[in-house]
Amino acid sequence: MSRERTPQPPLAAGPTSPPGLVAEPLRDWIRTHTGISITDQNQAPVELAVRIEAERHGLDPTRYLQRLLSGGLPPQAFIDAVATNESYFFRSQEQMRVVVTRLIPERLARRPGQPVRILSLPCARGEEPYSLAILCEEHRIAPHSVQLVGGDISATCVADAGRGRYSPLALRRTDPELARRWFTPQGSRAWQLEPALLPRVELRRLNLLEDAEVVLARRFDIVFCENLLIYFDPETTVDALAVLGRLLVPDGWLFVDHAEWNIPRGAFRMQEFDGCVGFRPLGAPAADASESGSRAGRVAVADAPSRGASTAPPTQLPAPLTTRASGPAVSPVSRPLPRPARAAPAAPLRGSALTTHLAQAQVHYRAKRFAEALSAFDAVLTADPGHPLARLGKARVLADCGEDFEALEIAESLLHGTAAGGLNLAPADQVETLVLMGLLLHKKGLKDLAQGYLREVKRHDPHHPSLGLLRPHRPGDADA
Ligand SMILES: C[S@@+](CC[C@H](N)C(=O)[O-])C[C@H]1O[C@@H](n2cnc3c(N)ncnc32)[C@H](O)[C@@H]1O
Repeated sequence: MSRERTPQPPLAAGPTSPPGLVAEPLRDWIRTHTGISITDQNQAPVELAVRIEAERHGLDPTRYLQRLLSGGLPPQAFIDAVATNESYFFRSQEQMRVVVTRLIPERLARRPGQPVRILSLPCARGEEPYSLAILCEEHRIAPHSVQLVGGDISATCVADAGRGRYSPLALRRTDPELARRWFTPQGSRAWQLEPALLPRVELRRLNLLEDAEVVLARRFDIVFCENLLIYFDPETTVDALAVLGRLLVPDGWLFVDHAEWNIPRGAFRMQEFDGCVGFRPLGAPAADASESGSRAGRVAVADAPSRGASTAPPTQLPAPLTTRASGPAVSPVSRPLPRPARAAPAAPLRGSALTTHLAQAQVHYRAKRFAEALSAFDAVLTADPGHPLARLGKARVLADCGEDFEALEIAESLLHGTAAGGLNLAPADQVETLVLMGLLLHKKGLKDLAQGYLREVKRHDPHHPSLGLLRPHRPGDADA
Protein backbone atom coordinates (compact mmCIF):
# COMPACT_ATOMS: atom_id res chain seq x y z
CA MET A 1 0.00 0.00 0.00
CA SER A 2 3.01 2.33 -0.18
CA ARG A 3 2.93 5.22 -2.63
CA GLU A 4 4.40 8.61 -3.44
CA ARG A 5 4.13 11.00 -0.49
CA THR A 6 3.20 14.66 -0.46
CA PRO A 7 3.07 16.74 2.73
CA GLN A 8 -0.43 17.07 4.16
CA PRO A 9 -1.94 18.96 7.05
CA PRO A 10 -2.50 16.94 10.25
CA LEU A 11 -5.48 14.63 10.18
CA ALA A 12 -8.30 14.03 12.55
CA ALA A 13 -8.60 10.65 14.22
CA GLY A 14 -10.92 9.31 11.56
CA PRO A 15 -14.68 9.77 11.40
CA THR A 16 -15.96 11.59 14.39
CA SER A 17 -17.46 9.54 17.21
CA PRO A 18 -19.42 10.73 20.22
CA PRO A 19 -17.05 11.83 22.98
CA GLY A 20 -16.77 9.76 26.13
CA LEU A 21 -17.97 6.47 24.63
CA VAL A 22 -15.58 4.49 26.81
CA ALA A 23 -16.68 6.06 30.06
CA GLU A 24 -16.89 4.56 33.54
CA PRO A 25 -20.17 2.61 33.05
CA LEU A 26 -18.73 0.76 30.05
CA ARG A 27 -15.41 0.14 31.85
CA ASP A 28 -17.38 -1.32 34.78
CA TRP A 29 -19.43 -3.47 32.44
CA ILE A 30 -16.28 -4.88 30.82
CA ARG A 31 -14.62 -5.53 34.19
CA THR A 32 -17.75 -7.25 35.47
CA HIS A 33 -18.22 -9.43 32.39
CA THR A 34 -14.57 -10.30 31.64
CA GLY A 35 -12.28 -9.04 34.41
CA ILE A 36 -10.43 -6.91 31.84
CA SER A 37 -9.42 -3.51 33.13
CA ILE A 38 -9.81 -0.64 30.66
CA THR A 39 -7.72 2.47 31.14
CA ASP A 40 -7.15 5.61 29.08
CA GLN A 41 -4.18 3.82 27.50
CA ASN A 42 -6.05 0.79 26.16
CA GLN A 43 -9.47 2.29 25.44
CA ALA A 44 -9.05 2.90 21.69
CA PRO A 45 -9.81 -0.72 20.68
CA VAL A 46 -12.86 -0.69 22.93
CA GLU A 47 -14.18 2.40 21.20
CA LEU A 48 -13.67 0.68 17.89
CA ALA A 49 -15.53 -2.40 19.14
CA VAL A 50 -18.44 -0.19 20.19
CA ARG A 51 -18.62 1.41 16.77
CA ILE A 52 -18.40 -1.90 14.93
CA GLU A 53 -21.02 -3.59 17.06
CA ALA A 54 -23.28 -0.51 16.88
CA GLU A 55 -23.11 -0.58 13.10
CA ARG A 56 -23.81 -4.31 13.06
CA HIS A 57 -26.98 -3.65 15.03
CA GLY A 58 -27.91 -0.64 12.90
CA LEU A 59 -27.75 1.66 15.95
CA ASP A 60 -25.77 4.78 16.65
CA PRO A 61 -22.97 4.10 19.17
CA THR A 62 -24.61 5.93 22.08
CA ARG A 63 -27.92 4.12 21.64
CA TYR A 64 -26.10 0.81 21.21
CA LEU A 65 -24.26 1.35 24.50
CA GLN A 66 -27.46 2.25 26.32
CA ARG A 67 -29.00 -1.03 25.21
CA LEU A 68 -25.89 -3.08 25.95
CA LEU A 69 -25.39 -1.64 29.42
CA SER A 70 -29.05 -1.94 30.36
CA GLY A 71 -29.07 -5.63 29.43
CA GLY A 72 -31.16 -5.06 26.29
CA LEU A 73 -28.60 -6.90 24.13
CA PRO A 74 -26.91 -10.25 24.69
CA PRO A 75 -23.37 -9.55 25.95
CA GLN A 76 -21.39 -12.25 24.10
CA ALA A 77 -20.74 -10.47 20.78
CA PHE A 78 -19.34 -7.43 22.55
CA ILE A 79 -17.21 -9.59 24.86
CA ASP A 80 -15.79 -11.30 21.76
CA ALA A 81 -15.14 -7.90 20.17
CA VAL A 82 -13.18 -6.47 23.11
CA ALA A 83 -11.06 -9.55 23.95
CA THR A 84 -7.51 -9.53 22.56
CA ASN A 85 -7.05 -12.96 20.98
CA GLU A 86 -3.42 -12.66 19.91
CA SER A 87 -1.73 -16.07 20.19
CA TYR A 88 0.47 -18.43 18.20
CA PHE A 89 1.66 -22.02 18.30
CA PHE A 90 4.49 -22.88 20.72
CA ARG A 91 4.32 -19.45 22.35
CA SER A 92 5.37 -20.77 25.76
CA GLN A 93 7.76 -23.33 24.38
CA GLU A 94 10.02 -23.57 27.47
CA GLN A 95 7.10 -24.52 29.66
CA MET A 96 5.65 -26.90 27.07
CA ARG A 97 9.01 -28.63 26.75
CA VAL A 98 9.15 -29.26 30.50
CA VAL A 99 5.54 -30.43 30.57
CA VAL A 100 6.07 -32.96 27.80
CA THR A 101 9.53 -34.19 28.70
CA ARG A 102 9.30 -34.18 32.52
CA LEU A 103 5.96 -33.48 34.14
CA ILE A 104 3.75 -35.79 32.06
CA PRO A 105 6.06 -38.82 32.02
CA GLU A 106 6.93 -38.51 35.69
CA ARG A 107 3.28 -38.21 36.74
CA LEU A 108 2.37 -41.18 34.54
CA ALA A 109 5.12 -43.21 36.16
CA ARG A 110 3.92 -42.23 39.64
CA ARG A 111 0.21 -42.79 38.97
CA PRO A 112 -0.07 -45.58 36.39
CA GLY A 113 -3.41 -45.64 34.58
CA GLN A 114 -4.35 -42.13 35.65
CA PRO A 115 -4.24 -39.55 32.86
CA VAL A 116 -2.46 -36.25 33.32
CA ARG A 117 -5.00 -33.45 33.06
CA ILE A 118 -3.97 -30.19 31.47
CA LEU A 119 -6.05 -27.03 31.16
CA SER A 120 -5.29 -24.17 28.77
CA LEU A 121 -7.36 -21.18 29.93
CA PRO A 122 -7.45 -18.90 28.03
CA CYS A 123 -6.74 -20.91 24.89
CA ALA A 124 -7.66 -18.22 22.29
CA ARG A 125 -8.12 -20.13 19.01
CA GLY A 126 -6.58 -23.31 20.38
CA GLU A 127 -2.96 -22.53 19.51
CA GLU A 128 -1.73 -23.45 23.00
CA PRO A 129 -3.55 -26.76 23.66
CA TYR A 130 -2.98 -27.96 20.10
CA SER A 131 0.74 -27.18 20.49
CA LEU A 132 0.68 -29.49 23.50
CA ALA A 133 -1.23 -32.11 21.53
CA ILE A 134 1.39 -31.97 18.77
CA LEU A 135 4.22 -32.33 21.28
CA CYS A 136 2.48 -35.27 22.97
CA GLU A 137 2.18 -36.96 19.59
CA GLU A 138 5.80 -36.21 18.73
CA HIS A 139 6.80 -37.82 22.02
CA ARG A 140 4.50 -40.79 21.56
CA ILE A 141 2.48 -40.03 24.64
CA ALA A 142 -0.70 -42.03 24.18
CA PRO A 143 -3.87 -39.96 23.75
CA HIS A 144 -5.53 -41.71 26.71
CA SER A 145 -2.61 -40.68 28.98
CA VAL A 146 -3.26 -36.97 28.72
CA GLN A 147 -6.53 -35.06 28.86
CA LEU A 148 -6.29 -31.64 27.26
CA VAL A 149 -8.99 -29.03 27.88
CA GLY A 150 -9.03 -25.58 26.28
CA GLY A 151 -11.31 -22.76 27.38
CA ASP A 152 -11.80 -19.15 26.43
CA ILE A 153 -14.35 -16.45 27.16
CA SER A 154 -14.69 -15.70 23.45
CA ALA A 155 -17.30 -17.87 21.74
CA THR A 156 -15.84 -16.90 18.36
CA CYS A 157 -12.39 -18.10 19.40
CA VAL A 158 -13.71 -21.39 20.73
CA ALA A 159 -15.61 -21.99 17.48
CA ASP A 160 -12.48 -21.13 15.45
CA ALA A 161 -10.44 -23.49 17.62
CA GLY A 162 -12.84 -26.29 16.76
CA ARG A 163 -12.10 -25.79 13.05
CA GLY A 164 -8.30 -25.76 13.45
CA ARG A 165 -7.67 -23.38 10.57
CA TYR A 166 -4.93 -20.80 11.09
CA SER A 167 -3.32 -17.81 9.44
CA PRO A 168 0.43 -18.00 8.71
CA LEU A 169 1.02 -15.73 11.71
CA ALA A 170 -0.21 -18.40 14.09
CA LEU A 171 2.70 -20.53 12.88
CA ARG A 172 5.29 -17.80 13.11
CA ARG A 173 7.31 -19.58 15.81
CA THR A 174 6.72 -23.08 14.50
CA ASP A 175 9.61 -24.95 12.97
CA PRO A 176 8.79 -25.40 9.25
CA GLU A 177 9.36 -29.16 9.48
CA LEU A 178 6.94 -29.45 12.38
CA ALA A 179 4.45 -27.29 10.44
CA ARG A 180 4.82 -29.58 7.43
CA ARG A 181 4.04 -32.63 9.57
CA TRP A 182 0.99 -31.27 11.35
CA PHE A 183 -0.56 -28.68 9.05
CA THR A 184 -1.78 -28.66 5.47
CA PRO A 185 -1.56 -25.39 3.53
CA GLN A 186 -4.89 -24.12 2.25
CA GLY A 187 -3.92 -21.65 -0.43
CA SER A 188 -1.26 -19.14 0.59
CA ARG A 189 -3.07 -17.67 3.59
CA ALA A 190 -4.26 -20.51 5.77
CA TRP A 191 -3.07 -23.70 7.38
CA GLN A 192 -5.32 -26.56 8.42
CA LEU A 193 -4.31 -28.47 11.52
CA GLU A 194 -4.20 -32.25 11.08
CA PRO A 195 -7.87 -33.22 11.66
CA ALA A 196 -6.89 -36.21 13.81
CA LEU A 197 -5.62 -33.74 16.43
CA LEU A 198 -8.87 -31.82 16.76
CA PRO A 199 -10.56 -34.31 19.11
CA ARG A 200 -7.46 -34.38 21.32
CA VAL A 201 -8.57 -31.08 22.89
CA GLU A 202 -11.91 -30.68 24.65
CA LEU A 203 -12.99 -27.10 23.97
CA ARG A 204 -15.27 -25.01 26.19
CA ARG A 205 -16.45 -21.43 26.30
CA LEU A 206 -15.38 -20.43 29.80
CA ASN A 207 -15.03 -17.28 31.85
CA LEU A 208 -12.21 -17.91 34.31
CA LEU A 209 -13.79 -15.57 36.83
CA GLU A 210 -17.37 -16.69 36.48
CA ASP A 211 -18.12 -20.24 35.41
CA ALA A 212 -14.82 -22.08 34.89
CA GLU A 213 -14.94 -23.97 38.21
CA VAL A 214 -18.58 -24.94 37.87
CA VAL A 215 -18.36 -26.00 34.22
CA LEU A 216 -15.10 -27.90 34.59
CA ALA A 217 -15.97 -29.32 38.01
CA ARG A 218 -12.62 -31.12 38.27
CA ARG A 219 -9.00 -30.40 39.02
CA PHE A 220 -5.99 -30.32 36.75
CA ASP A 221 -2.36 -31.33 37.15
CA ILE A 222 -1.20 -28.45 35.01
CA VAL A 223 -2.88 -25.16 34.13
CA PHE A 224 -1.62 -22.80 31.46
CA CYS A 225 -3.08 -19.35 32.11
CA GLU A 226 -0.83 -17.33 29.86
CA ASN A 227 -1.33 -13.72 28.84
CA LEU A 228 -4.59 -13.12 30.68
CA LEU A 229 -3.64 -11.82 34.14
CA ILE A 230 -1.83 -8.99 32.42
CA TYR A 231 -5.23 -7.54 31.44
CA PHE A 232 -6.56 -7.62 35.02
CA ASP A 233 -6.22 -5.04 37.79
CA PRO A 234 -4.57 -6.24 41.05
CA GLU A 235 -7.89 -7.00 42.77
CA THR A 236 -9.14 -9.12 39.88
CA THR A 237 -5.77 -10.87 39.63
CA VAL A 238 -6.16 -12.00 43.25
CA ASP A 239 -9.65 -13.37 42.46
CA ALA A 240 -8.34 -15.11 39.34
CA LEU A 241 -5.48 -16.71 41.26
CA ALA A 242 -7.93 -18.02 43.86
CA VAL A 243 -9.91 -19.72 41.08
CA LEU A 244 -6.73 -21.07 39.50
CA GLY A 245 -5.66 -22.45 42.86
CA ARG A 246 -8.95 -24.33 43.17
CA LEU A 247 -8.62 -25.68 39.62
CA LEU A 248 -5.24 -27.24 40.43
CA VAL A 249 -4.48 -30.47 42.27
CA PRO A 250 -2.49 -29.74 45.45
CA ASP A 251 0.82 -30.64 43.78
CA GLY A 252 -0.07 -29.04 40.45
CA TRP A 253 1.72 -26.51 38.32
CA LEU A 254 0.46 -23.16 37.07
CA PHE A 255 2.20 -21.55 34.11
CA VAL A 256 1.82 -17.87 33.25
CA ASP A 257 3.70 -15.68 30.80
CA HIS A 258 6.93 -14.12 32.04
CA ALA A 259 5.28 -10.68 31.93
CA GLU A 260 2.98 -12.00 34.66
CA TRP A 261 5.59 -13.45 37.01
CA ASN A 262 5.08 -10.63 39.48
CA ILE A 263 1.67 -12.01 40.47
CA PRO A 264 0.80 -11.69 44.15
CA ARG A 265 2.23 -14.67 46.02
CA GLY A 266 -0.69 -15.20 48.42
CA ALA A 267 -1.57 -18.67 47.21
CA PHE A 268 1.39 -19.67 45.04
CA ARG A 269 5.12 -19.74 45.18
CA MET A 270 7.37 -19.40 42.18
CA GLN A 271 9.56 -22.37 41.38
CA GLU A 272 12.17 -22.92 38.73
CA PHE A 273 12.21 -26.40 37.29
CA ASP A 274 14.53 -27.68 34.59
CA GLY A 275 15.13 -24.22 33.21
CA CYS A 276 11.53 -23.05 33.23
CA VAL A 277 9.51 -21.10 35.77
CA GLY A 278 6.15 -22.18 37.13
CA PHE A 279 3.96 -21.56 40.16
CA ARG A 280 2.91 -24.15 42.74
CA PRO A 281 0.08 -24.04 45.25
CA LEU A 282 1.54 -23.10 48.64
CA GLY A 283 0.86 -26.53 50.11
CA ALA A 284 2.67 -28.35 47.27
CA PRO A 285 5.92 -30.12 48.12
CA ALA A 286 8.84 -27.71 47.73
CA ALA A 287 10.88 -30.23 45.82
CA ASP A 288 8.57 -32.88 44.48
CA ALA A 289 10.29 -36.23 45.03
CA SER A 290 9.81 -37.55 41.54
CA GLU A 291 9.55 -34.36 39.52
CA SER A 292 12.48 -32.52 40.92
CA GLY A 293 13.90 -34.23 43.97
CA SER A 294 16.30 -36.23 41.86
CA ARG A 295 17.60 -32.98 40.51
CA ALA A 296 17.30 -30.93 43.63
CA GLY A 297 19.99 -28.57 42.48
CA ARG A 298 17.78 -27.47 39.65
CA VAL A 299 14.89 -26.41 41.83
CA ALA A 300 14.90 -22.93 43.17
CA VAL A 301 12.36 -20.58 44.60
CA ALA A 302 13.00 -17.47 42.62
CA ASP A 303 12.07 -13.85 42.69
CA ALA A 304 10.37 -12.45 39.64
CA PRO A 305 13.00 -11.58 37.05
CA SER A 306 12.42 -8.59 34.84
CA ARG A 307 10.79 -9.15 31.50
CA GLY A 308 13.17 -10.06 28.68
CA ALA A 309 12.68 -9.14 25.04
CA SER A 310 10.35 -11.60 23.34
CA THR A 311 12.70 -12.61 20.58
CA ALA A 312 12.35 -16.36 21.03
CA PRO A 313 13.55 -18.42 18.08
CA PRO A 314 11.22 -20.78 16.24
CA THR A 315 10.34 -23.93 18.13
CA GLN A 316 13.09 -26.49 17.85
CA LEU A 317 12.12 -29.79 16.38
CA PRO A 318 11.80 -32.82 18.54
CA ALA A 319 13.41 -35.96 17.18
CA PRO A 320 11.37 -36.83 14.08
CA LEU A 321 9.10 -39.81 14.30
CA THR A 322 8.28 -42.03 11.39
CA THR A 323 4.63 -42.36 12.26
CA ARG A 324 1.97 -40.25 13.92
CA ALA A 325 0.22 -43.29 15.36
CA SER A 326 0.27 -43.27 19.14
CA GLY A 327 1.45 -46.35 20.95
CA PRO A 328 1.23 -47.07 24.65
CA ALA A 329 2.30 -44.37 27.09
CA VAL A 330 6.07 -44.36 26.96
CA SER A 331 8.42 -42.13 28.82
CA PRO A 332 9.85 -39.65 26.37
CA VAL A 333 12.60 -38.69 28.78
CA SER A 334 15.05 -40.68 26.73
CA ARG A 335 14.02 -38.74 23.65
CA PRO A 336 13.76 -35.15 24.89
CA LEU A 337 12.97 -32.09 22.89
CA PRO A 338 16.16 -30.30 22.07
CA ARG A 339 16.27 -27.38 24.44
CA PRO A 340 15.53 -24.19 22.53
CA ALA A 341 18.07 -21.48 22.94
CA ARG A 342 16.78 -19.38 25.80
CA ALA A 343 15.19 -16.14 24.72
CA ALA A 344 18.27 -14.05 25.15
CA PRO A 345 17.57 -10.84 27.02
CA ALA A 346 18.33 -8.92 23.87
CA ALA A 347 19.98 -5.55 24.19
CA PRO A 348 17.31 -2.96 23.40
CA LEU A 349 17.52 -1.73 19.84
CA ARG A 350 18.63 1.86 19.56
CA GLY A 351 19.43 4.42 16.88
CA SER A 352 20.74 2.85 13.71
CA ALA A 353 20.02 -0.74 14.86
CA LEU A 354 16.39 0.22 15.24
CA THR A 355 16.34 1.87 11.80
CA THR A 356 17.94 -1.24 10.29
CA HIS A 357 15.35 -3.53 11.86
CA LEU A 358 12.59 -1.30 10.58
CA ALA A 359 14.06 -1.34 7.07
CA GLN A 360 14.41 -5.13 7.21
CA ALA A 361 10.83 -5.43 8.35
CA GLN A 362 9.65 -3.36 5.37
CA VAL A 363 11.71 -5.51 2.99
CA HIS A 364 10.21 -8.70 4.44
CA TYR A 365 6.74 -7.20 4.19
CA ARG A 366 7.15 -6.21 0.55
CA ALA A 367 8.43 -9.73 -0.20
CA LYS A 368 5.35 -11.12 1.61
CA ARG A 369 7.52 -12.86 4.22
CA PHE A 370 4.91 -12.03 6.82
CA ALA A 371 6.24 -14.01 9.77
CA GLU A 372 9.71 -12.47 9.39
CA ALA A 373 8.21 -9.01 8.91
CA LEU A 374 6.18 -9.39 12.07
CA SER A 375 9.20 -10.52 14.08
CA ALA A 376 11.20 -7.52 12.87
CA PHE A 377 8.37 -5.07 13.61
CA ASP A 378 7.93 -6.69 17.03
CA ALA A 379 11.66 -6.30 17.74
CA VAL A 380 11.35 -2.57 17.07
CA LEU A 381 8.23 -2.37 19.22
CA THR A 382 9.94 -4.17 22.08
CA ALA A 383 12.51 -1.37 22.11
CA ASP A 384 10.02 1.39 21.42
CA PRO A 385 6.39 0.29 22.00
CA GLY A 386 4.95 3.49 20.56
CA HIS A 387 7.02 3.51 17.36
CA PRO A 388 4.37 4.65 14.86
CA LEU A 389 5.90 3.20 11.70
CA ALA A 390 6.49 -0.16 13.34
CA ARG A 391 2.91 -0.17 14.58
CA LEU A 392 1.57 0.72 11.17
CA GLY A 393 3.80 -1.96 9.64
CA LYS A 394 2.56 -4.55 12.13
CA ALA A 395 -1.05 -3.59 11.43
CA ARG A 396 -0.48 -4.11 7.71
CA VAL A 397 1.11 -7.51 8.24
CA LEU A 398 -1.77 -8.57 10.46
CA ALA A 399 -4.28 -7.30 7.89
CA ASP A 400 -2.59 -9.21 5.09
CA CYS A 401 -2.69 -12.39 7.19
CA GLY A 402 -6.39 -12.07 7.89
CA GLU A 403 -5.97 -10.97 11.52
CA ASP A 404 -8.41 -8.17 10.79
CA PHE A 405 -9.49 -7.24 14.25
CA GLU A 406 -5.95 -7.06 15.64
CA ALA A 407 -5.01 -4.91 12.64
CA LEU A 408 -8.01 -2.66 13.20
CA GLU A 409 -7.11 -2.26 16.85
CA ILE A 410 -3.59 -1.10 16.08
CA ALA A 411 -4.68 1.21 13.27
CA GLU A 412 -7.40 2.75 15.42
CA SER A 413 -5.03 3.29 18.33
CA LEU A 414 -2.54 4.90 15.94
CA LEU A 415 -5.12 7.39 14.70
CA HIS A 416 -6.37 7.98 18.23
CA GLY A 417 -2.84 8.62 19.48
CA THR A 418 -2.14 10.89 16.55
CA ALA A 419 -5.22 12.95 17.22
CA ALA A 420 -4.24 13.25 20.87
CA GLY A 421 -0.85 14.52 19.72
CA GLY A 422 0.88 11.53 21.29
CA LEU A 423 2.33 9.92 18.18
CA ASN A 424 4.58 11.34 15.58
CA LEU A 425 3.00 9.80 12.50
CA ALA A 426 3.81 11.62 9.27
CA PRO A 427 0.74 12.89 7.39
CA ALA A 428 1.24 10.42 4.54
CA ASP A 429 1.39 7.55 7.05
CA GLN A 430 -1.73 8.88 8.71
CA VAL A 431 -3.46 8.70 5.34
CA GLU A 432 -2.23 5.13 4.93
CA THR A 433 -3.60 4.30 8.37
CA LEU A 434 -6.99 5.73 7.41
CA VAL A 435 -6.84 3.70 4.21
CA LEU A 436 -6.09 0.56 6.19
CA MET A 437 -9.04 1.23 8.49
CA GLY A 438 -11.31 1.85 5.49
CA LEU A 439 -10.23 -1.30 3.65
CA LEU A 440 -10.47 -3.52 6.72
CA LEU A 441 -13.91 -2.26 7.69
CA HIS A 442 -15.05 -2.64 4.08
CA LYS A 443 -13.74 -6.20 4.05
CA LYS A 444 -15.63 -6.97 7.26
CA GLY A 445 -18.85 -5.76 5.60
CA LEU A 446 -18.99 -2.57 7.70
CA LYS A 447 -19.32 -0.49 4.60
CA ASP A 448 -20.89 2.64 6.10
CA LEU A 449 -18.15 2.85 8.70
CA ALA A 450 -15.55 2.27 5.99
CA GLN A 451 -16.98 5.13 3.93
CA GLY A 452 -16.27 7.57 6.77
CA TYR A 453 -12.57 6.69 6.70
CA LEU A 454 -12.39 6.76 2.92
CA ARG A 455 -13.97 10.21 2.82
CA GLU A 456 -11.31 11.32 5.29
CA VAL A 457 -8.69 9.89 2.94
CA LYS A 458 -10.22 11.79 0.04
CA ARG A 459 -9.99 15.08 1.92
CA HIS A 460 -6.24 14.65 2.17
CA ASP A 461 -5.40 12.72 -0.96
CA PRO A 462 -8.14 13.06 -3.59
CA HIS A 463 -6.38 10.64 -5.94
CA HIS A 464 -5.59 7.83 -3.57
CA PRO A 465 -6.13 4.46 -5.33
CA SER A 466 -8.25 3.09 -2.49
CA LEU A 467 -10.92 5.67 -3.30
CA GLY A 468 -12.30 3.28 -5.90
CA LEU A 469 -14.28 1.91 -2.96
CA LEU A 470 -15.72 5.30 -2.06
CA ARG A 471 -19.32 5.55 -3.14
CA PRO A 472 -20.85 8.90 -4.16
CA HIS A 473 -21.96 11.00 -1.24
CA ARG A 474 -25.55 10.36 -0.15
CA PRO A 475 -27.58 12.93 1.78
CA GLY A 476 -27.88 10.68 4.86
CA ASP A 477 -24.11 10.17 5.25
CA ALA A 478 -23.22 11.60 8.63
CA ASP A 479 -19.57 12.45 8.30
CA ALA A 480 -19.20 13.50 4.68
C1 LIG B 1 -3.84 -12.73 24.53
S1 LIG B 1 -4.91 -14.15 24.51
C2 LIG B 1 -3.85 -15.36 25.24
C3 LIG B 1 -4.02 -16.73 24.62
C4 LIG B 1 -2.97 -17.78 25.00
N1 LIG B 1 -3.08 -18.18 26.39
C5 LIG B 1 -1.58 -17.26 24.72
O1 LIG B 1 -0.83 -16.99 25.64
O2 LIG B 1 -1.23 -17.13 23.55
C6 LIG B 1 -6.02 -13.67 25.79
C7 LIG B 1 -7.33 -14.47 25.74
O3 LIG B 1 -8.00 -14.33 26.98
C8 LIG B 1 -9.39 -14.45 26.74
N2 LIG B 1 -10.08 -13.94 27.94
C9 LIG B 1 -10.24 -12.65 28.35
N3 LIG B 1 -10.89 -12.61 29.52
C10 LIG B 1 -11.14 -13.90 29.88
C11 LIG B 1 -11.77 -14.51 30.99
N4 LIG B 1 -12.28 -13.77 31.99
N5 LIG B 1 -11.88 -15.85 31.03
C12 LIG B 1 -11.38 -16.60 30.02
N6 LIG B 1 -10.76 -16.08 28.93
C13 LIG B 1 -10.63 -14.74 28.87
C14 LIG B 1 -9.56 -13.67 25.45
O4 LIG B 1 -10.75 -14.03 24.78
C15 LIG B 1 -8.30 -14.05 24.68
O5 LIG B 1 -8.55 -15.10 23.77
